Amino acid sequence: MGLFSPITIRGLTIKNRIVVSPMCMYSSEDGFANDWHLVHLGSRAVGGAGLIFTEATAVEPRGRISPVDLGIWKDEHIDALRRVVDFCHSFGAKMGIQLAHAGRKAEDYPPWERDGMKIKGSKHAIAPSAVPYGADWHTPKEMTEEDMQSVQKAFEDAAKRAVEAGFDVIEVHAAHGYLIHEFLSPISNKRTDQYGGSIENRERFLVDVVRRVRKVIPDSMPLFVRISCVDHIEGGWTLEDSIHLAKRLKDEGCDVIDCSSGGIVEDEKVNAYPGFQVPYAERIKKEVGIMTMCVGLITTYEQAQEIVMNSRADLVAMAREFLRDPYLPMRWAKTHWLKPEVPRQYIRAWL
Ligand SMILES: Cc1cc2nc3c(=O)[nH]c(=O)nc-3n(C[C@H](O)[C@H](O)[C@H](O)COP(=O)(O)O)c2cc1C
Repeated sequence: MGLFSPITIRGLTIKNRIVVSPMCMYSSEDGFANDWHLVHLGSRAVGGAGLIFTEATAVEPRGRISPVDLGIWKDEHIDALRRVVDFCHSFGAKMGIQLAHAGRKAEDYPPWERDGMKIKGSKHAIAPSAVPYGADWHTPKEMTEEDMQSVQKAFEDAAKRAVEAGFDVIEVHAAHGYLIHEFLSPISNKRTDQYGGSIENRERFLVDVVRRVRKVIPDSMPLFVRISCVDHIEGGWTLEDSIHLAKRLKDEGCDVIDCSSGGIVEDEKVNAYPGFQVPYAERIKKEVGIMTMCVGLITTYEQAQEIVMNSRADLVAMAREFLRDPYLPMRWAKTHWLKPEVPRQYIRAWL
């Protein structure tokens, strides 16, 4: 057991517990994967990561965090994604896709064109309620029953395409203040129908999405859900709520809860320090009896190994440290006298 030991989830065995966390790359045109994604994700496969997630990949165009996000809303997207997946597979990495809808945090402009704009966000944004993300954001349109059905269908179709592209894992993005989180949190969900009010009702949209996705992917395929375990704000979503939700998701065939936090309001205050989100993963794992993945300010081998060895989480995801060093797993293995898995092209680095 340890960071470099394999893990099996349903029919999938991942060679180690080190995961590349989803990261927006702002590099797509019309949602298509291209050479950037091949090089960016591919180099992390060469570097020895066990599981690599794509960035938040939009299930419909108006659900993009920016207009230059990756997408999977049409069949034409599949081939370009498959090229990336096949390359990463050839270096022993498993591939996950994060299916996402930005809800009221959708944006019409890429980050580098937003400076000086008076109103942020997208004119076309939809959300559970007509409540803007921040004071100077577009007010989203409140979703009708028809909108909800069509977005759920978009998640389902996206999952089918992801299977066709060869992905090993699907992750539903229900964190960071995006659409599904907006349904979960009482801060952004003011609905009075069966999708608002009680916690069961606020969880319904996510449960419906998970049910639809689970139905169209193979039984052997793991399903992850990323949640914001807490809103970091008075009157918001809590860790107790996350435990309630995780129990329900487990019953619906979700295999791993990916434990992040925050993102529901613009002016949140987060007390972030190394490993600050690990206790969420630990508590959900212990109380619900479901596998968890932790993330957030994890940068060292010692931190990651401690988490796995003490069974605080099953998988350790990293984002920024992987931007700094795509070969992190290889380097850690070498530094700690483990036998690193090295692509034959790079074998001399270890001789
Ligand atoms: C450049 C960048 C892009 C990100 N994009 C996403 C994303 O698409 N989906 C997501 O769930 N989180 C996203 N995140 C959050 C990371 O996945 C991760 O949860 C967060 O950065 C904390 O981990 P770290 O301390 O290892 O960076 C992004 C983070 C960074 C730095």
